Amino acid sequence: MTKLSTKHLLGIKDITLADINLILSTAQSFKEVINRPIKKVPSLRDITIANLFFENSTRTKLSFELAEKRLSADVVNFSSSSSSVKKGETLIDTVNNILAMKVDMVVMRHPNPGAAAFLSKHVNAKIINAGDGAHEHPTQALLDAFSIKEKLGNIKGKKIAIVGDILHSRVALSNIFCLQKLGADVMVCGPTTLMPKYISSLGVKVEHNLQKTLEWCDAANMLRIQLERQEIKYFPSLREYTMLFGLNKELLDSLSKKIIIMHPGPINRGVEITSDVADSSQSIILEQVENGVAVRMAVLFLLAGRN
Ligand code: CP
Repeated sequence: MTKLSTKHLLGIKDITLADINLILSTAQSFKEVINRPIKKVPSLRDITIANLFFENSTRTKLSFELAEKRLSADVVNFSSSSSSVKKGETLIDTVNNILAMKVDMVVMRHPNPGAAAFLSKHVNAKIINAGDGAHEHPTQALLDAFSIKEKLGNIKGKKIAIVGDILHSRVALSNIFCLQKLGADVMVCGPTTLMPKYISSLGVKVEHNLQKTLEWCDAANMLRIQLERQEIKYFPSLREYTMLFGLNKELLDSLSKKIIIMHPGPINRGVEITSDVADSSQSIILEQVENGVAVRMAVLFLLAGRN
């Protein structure tokens, strides 16, 4: 297969296993490209991409922009905080005005779940979801899968734990869909109050004991507590959360095997993981970031249909 089954990348739920495998194998080729002395290829010359960020981002925004530039696309960046959205302009009006400037693809992060899907039905451009509220973050899941595969050789049959604020996490949902399609066994771990009510229907194991979770898994993806999405208190204090669900070096070293530690970033150092774990030899956090550029190059290239 050389083509994706989809025109947009709105979520991992909507794409096939063949799509995921095509993105991961294409990303492998682009990883080789970005490690060459000359990192730029002409694949997306004459394609114009708008990066629309209605919510804060460091990694995803920079990673997409770098991926686009490495592919020789023309890039325009939009940040809602410095735009006419502040004067009351709607999402569709904003995007249609940008598209009137002949934009081919839109990468969008938005606080509302479903914003990317909504846009895909109303504008004539290819849409890539760069995170929509607590819904999906498909390129994060793809880069996480790429990084696990790179470290463990394969994903099928591997045991992957996702720990922390599952309720508010688009990373958790996209990772669950992606890892399950690739044949992994997935466990989620966190306080009961941070588990969505529908979690069992996703076919994942649910655990509330961090040590048991870590003893079970081959890789643990430690999620950030998303205080900005929590309108009520889900646990008594951050200190108590850290005591029960924070990963420190003592706990990591006490495990009977060496597991891989992942984190999508940004890290709350000393809350979900301590600095000595984040910076340890078992952590692949910066490799995830590096792989993000290659994975996003693959997504952009395949959606542009230049292959
Ligand atoms: N992982 C991730 O989405 O990070 P940013 O919010 O910095 O983009």
